[in-house]
Amino acid sequence: MKLRLLAIFLVALSFPLFVHSLVRHYKFRVVLKNSTKLCSTKSFVTVNGKFPGPTLYAREDDTVIVKVNNHVKYNITIHWHGIKQLQTGWSDGPAYVTQCPIQPGQSYVYNFTLTGQRGTLLWHAHITWLRATMHGAIVILPKRGIPYPFPKPDKEKIIILGEWWKSDVEAVVNEATNSGLPPNISDAHTINGHPGPVPSCTSHGYTLHVESGKTYLLRIINAALNDELFFKIAGHNLKVVEADASYVKPFEIETIFLSPGQTTNAILTANQGVGKYLIAVTPFMDAPTIGFDNMTSIATLRYKGTPPYPKTILTTIPPLNATPVTTSFTDSLRSLNSNSYPAKVPLTIDHSLFFAITVGINPCATCANGIKLASAINNLTFLLPTISLLQAHYYNIKGVFTDDFPAYPPIIFNYTGTQPDNLQTNNGTKLYRLNFNSTVQIVLQGTAMIAPENHPFHLHGYNFFVVGQGLGNFDPEKDPSRFNLVDPVERNTLSVPNGGWIAIRFRADNPGVWFLHCHLEVHTTWGLKMAFVVDNGRGPNESLLPPPKDLPKC
Ligand code: C2O
Repeated sequence: MKLRLLAIFLVALSFPLFVHSLVRHYKFRVVLKNSTKLCSTKSFVTVNGKFPGPTLYAREDDTVIVKVNNHVKYNITIHWHGIKQLQTGWSDGPAYVTQCPIQPGQSYVYNFTLTGQRGTLLWHAHITWLRATMHGAIVILPKRGIPYPFPKPDKEKIIILGEWWKSDVEAVVNEATNSGLPPNISDAHTINGHPGPVPSCTSHGYTLHVESGKTYLLRIINAALNDELFFKIAGHNLKVVEADASYVKPFEIETIFLSPGQTTNAILTANQGVGKYLIAVTPFMDAPTIGFDNMTSIATLRYKGTPPYPKTILTTIPPLNATPVTTSFTDSLRSLNSNSYPAKVPLTIDHSLFFAITVGINPCATCANGIKLASAINNLTFLLPTISLLQAHYYNIKGVFTDDFPAYPPIIFNYTGTQPDNLQTNNGTKLYRLNFNSTVQIVLQGTAMIAPENHPFHLHGYNFFVVGQGLGNFDPEKDPSRFNLVDPVERNTLSVPNGGWIAIRFRADNPGVWFLHCHLEVHTTWGLKMAFVVDNGRGPNESLLPPPKDLPKC
């Protein structure tokens, strides 16, 4: 009798555990489509005919299965930006890094589990420049029954910022590659697919509808290709609660700053008078020598009950080179570091790396000047192979990559001072090898070579902690003593300041091949990328899973 009661009790106990995590199925049809929001008759590559594409909703611990069917003439892949892909590198998505592309007429099933993350991320195409129009939101809700660590907002809204070219982006990047020159700048920035009101076009732009007294969780995503962006709402401060799907200590701010690939959740309280308020998205550019898209895109915040034909309440926009606005945002970001969400910062370091980021040149036979712009980490311009690095690693195929990526620059120079005479970079496919569970620190040092600029670096497969940053050259004697090892922000994409450095730490507890690159697509194209190869640990729980049967072939 007692045993039976115990059995019933155990079943009752395990049942809720059983229904806690779900398998979510999605179908992504990659098709050509045009968008009325953009008042353009040009058709472009979309997922399910939508721009931005469909939102992926799931909870922490859910498994997500996305079947991608390619109905366009381009090779494609999809990357789930910021999802750690524990042991499932085959589903990460960067072309020629973790998979061969999905060819026209083919399909591939991405299958991954959401472990230890909750918040907003994005998915996007990860081949050439197709992510310009192939991107969308990923919303990871907390596990069922687990509240947010802040008062639950009344409603949630997704806001995706993008960058739009009137002409075909593939043509833009091909032309740049052939000429060796910077690519054409975009024609507009977009908010949820709208550039804002356009004369001679029926689109009135995006409207964020609110009700007085209510609170809104804004899930804001920068899906632009090359532009870091400011986001601001007239008359309303925003309370930031999360960055890159990690909770942060809440803080209030006027202007949000996001680099391509970054996401943030912020709470908007509708506490102003009924009416219409301007929402402005403007670019940040602190390197005045570089051509860039300086278009402002606008949307409207509209209170319920606003009388017809109201005057829009305006706001000032930050200057293009408003570095202090960017630093006041990034300096405010701190991990929540609570009992439930501790910041597990590695305190001892197995691999201490120093990566100098440069823009240099490479010989180019087809280019008008005989040279092309190239970008490098430690003077290495990274070349993608013709099969995926992960396949080469898993099947031990020789001749695809070597594992001698330089931990330091080959030549020490005054990085933020005058540039060296020789600007030529080396080309290669070199990876840096890590043991499972080893700890890594990377100091990313910006340099003044050719085009000093702010670089948003993104690491696949992990989150990292941003333990320090500064202007000028990193000082290995003095700077580490000022590192924040207690509550540094945890994220997957960060901005290396123009003429400065930033230090990150992570634990290599995810076996596979993981891309690290500048998330400005123009720089990725120029070779500003590298990859880590992380060996398996002990046993099946510390090993990369075998590749799925439908893994695309090159
Ligand atoms: Cu969001 Cu490797 O990219």
